[in-house]
Amino acid sequence: MRIVVTGALGHIGSRLIREIPFAFPDAEIVMMDDLSTQRYCSLFNLPVEGRYSFHQADVLTTDLASLFAGADAVVHLAAITDATTSFEKKEQVEEVNYIGSKRVAQACVIAECPLIFPSTTSVYGTQDKVVDEDCPMTDLKPQSPYAESKLKAEQLLQEMGDAEGLRFVICRFGTIFGTSIGMRFHTAINKFCWQAVMGQPITVWRTAWEQDRPYLELGDAINALKLIVDEKCVRSPWTYSSRATVIIGFIKRTGLVSPACKCRRTCLPCRKSFFRPGLGSSSRSVLPGVARCSSIRP
Ligand SMILES: NC(=O)c1ccc[n+]([C@@H]2O[C@H](COP(=O)([O-])OP(=O)(O)OC[C@H]3O[C@@H](n4cnc5c(N)ncnc54)[C@H](O)[C@@H]3O)[C@@H](O)[C@H]2O)c1
Repeated sequence: MRIVVTGALGHIGSRLIREIPFAFPDAEIVMMDDLSTQRYCSLFNLPVEGRYSFHQADVLTTDLASLFAGADAVVHLAAITDATTSFEKKEQVEEVNYIGSKRVAQACVIAECPLIFPSTTSVYGTQDKVVDEDCPMTDLKPQSPYAESKLKAEQLLQEMGDAEGLRFVICRFGTIFGTSIGMRFHTAINKFCWQAVMGQPITVWRTAWEQDRPYLELGDAINALKLIVDEKCVRSPWTYSSRATVIIGFIKRTGLVSPACKCRRTCLPCRKSFFRPGLGSSSRSVLPGVARCSSIRP
């Protein structure tokens, strides 16, 4: 078996590449990453059981069809992944996340191998009712260039499935939390844990304070990917997320572990901060000053 993982050194990839040898003994694991996020350490101490090769390559320029030849699955994790900063680098996000995914999908068609594409629950945006992968396109409300690029790539895969016979699975993952050697700390739960441990104020977007948000434990995401590889990509799209979690509930639980922590709500785009003393308060009042910030996004 040959499994190709693009973006292999990132938060998800660095854990996946360590689990593949145990889930699929004898698998040849082809890791690809352009190292743009400098996660060299993800290559350290790989399990001796694995049959690995690493290719430092950019999905936008490299000859992907040769790399994918003979693959039983391509797990396409390479992407620019920070939704918040994606507003400042729209073109780059579109280029890597959409054009890059298009190149990957085209190479999968040529190599006749299935593609596993992690999209995001961010394509749902803010909703008043429960939505899932069966909801119509009109219900999808991506709210960042990152989420838009993912949705556009999803649509492209559907078209290529119909027109060119591309086999693919789309997973709409909730925000990942959990540890890996290549993990990141810009997403909510990981960042909260870091801030709590370091005794820093926990920062929460003002608009997110009482929202239900979908999170997915990294081990669950990896199990989903392994299952899909094992079942040879049968259905798409899937939404994988843990139970939606109310941010304020998580913050309170963090407060039990680190009671000295303060919480800070931040507004975008003005980035004014509003401190709350301690984490236990259940007050839902809008703090003075917040109402003056007119253009707020989550
Ligand atoms: N982490 C999450 O919360 C989350 C949630 C939903 C979906 N996803 C999706 O899962 C995938 C992996 O996420 P992650 O958290 O591991 O991301 P990550 O940012 O930790 O890793 C992405 C990897 O891709 C590499 N990369 C970036 N541009 C590249 C390029 N042009 N060519 C080759 N490699 C490139 C980076 O160097 C990095 O190692 C992404 O597609 C992301 O959109 C992640």
